[in-house]
Amino acid sequence: MDDLIRQEVSLAPYSTLRVGGSAAYLAEVTSIAELQEVLSFAKQHTNVPPLVIGSGSNVLFREAGYPGVVVVVGMTGITQAEEGDSVLITAAAGELLDTVVLHAVQESLWGLENLSAIPGTIGATPVQNVGAYGVEVSDLIVSVTALHMETGEQRIFSNEDCQFAYRESFFKTESGRKWIITSVTFRLKKDPAPQLEYGTLAELQSIQNITPQQVRDEIESIRAGKFPDWHHVGTAGSFFKNPIISPTAYDELLAQYPDVPGFETEHGIKVSLGYVLDKICGLRGYSNGPVCLYENQALVLVATKGARASLIENFAREITNRVEEKTKIKIEPEVRFV
Ligand code: EPU
Repeated sequence: MDDLIRQEVSLAPYSTLRVGGSAAYLAEVTSIAELQEVLSFAKQHTNVPPLVIGSGSNVLFREAGYPGVVVVVGMTGITQAEEGDSVLITAAAGELLDTVVLHAVQESLWGLENLSAIPGTIGATPVQNVGAYGVEVSDLIVSVTALHMETGEQRIFSNEDCQFAYRESFFKTESGRKWIITSVTFRLKKDPAPQLEYGTLAELQSIQNITPQQVRDEIESIRAGKFPDWHHVGTAGSFFKNPIISPTAYDELLAQYPDVPGFETEHGIKVSLGYVLDKICGLRGYSNGPVCLYENQALVLVATKGARASLIENFAREITNRVEEKTKIKIEPEVRFV
């Protein structure tokens, strides 16, 4: 055992929900060499695959903790290269997404600005195809580099290889989970390419010569009103995915609730669960003990002082059941339970 790999480490500080038991081992790696060292330790000393996390903004650690090695990916570094009218930005997996967005905005590059103020690291962005305000990282990702946790192979995945869909990718599949993302390359535009179709962003369309910074400022202010400050309370952003239902099921829902927002996707109609929880189920601000649905945005679960993983899990189950009773829709967490 060396300084890199620690034993019996509480996981609560490694998740923005701030709950959970201990990891048998935990290592924060800042280079590929350290990552390789930790993987070889894991092979020799544990029977379960290593669990890879970034800044823990989309994970719920249960009380039982993790019996293997938790690897906190902390490699940093941002580089850029011009390619015609684009600039390719490559960021190491441990960089915060928002640091990279800020970097792009300061360089007056277009593409990432709608993803401002989202917690989480770059390495996590392809896994769940992070998206907000009409943009998903899959729109911008050129390639993802990753290291296989069993064989040590290093590979470059093209955008197509990543099999992106709404909050889904190859990296969430059983074989995909074996790859540890080490860096991501995004294609950004030098010429103005504002994306202002989503909701209230449309108001920005009238601004002449708008800059990425102005879009970022607007997104920051919208998000400040909708999301609790994760420095002060336990939260993981949207706790559930917006459900995708069949056009027939959506029509039935509309017959009863004519204003439910729905968006066509490849796989069906994506329904705004925030609306369903709030306007149909009356659950915005609903609390059970120290766990509640946020008063400004029902899709966001908030864990206050005294919350434990089991309470959060029970609460999530209660919400899931109530939505199904009222609308027949089966919802799924966006947050990963460990
Ligand atoms: N709504 C309500 N009441 C609520 C919340 C929402 O009526 O309490 C209505 C809104 O008025 C709107 C619709 O529901 O008509 C959708 O709400 P919003 O625009 O806030 O977006 P969302 O569907 O709740 C998704 C993403 C967010 C992302 C926002 C903005 C998912 C699971 N969530 O939320 O992503 O920031 O759109 O693009 O897709 C995350 O994934 O963690 C996340 C925060």
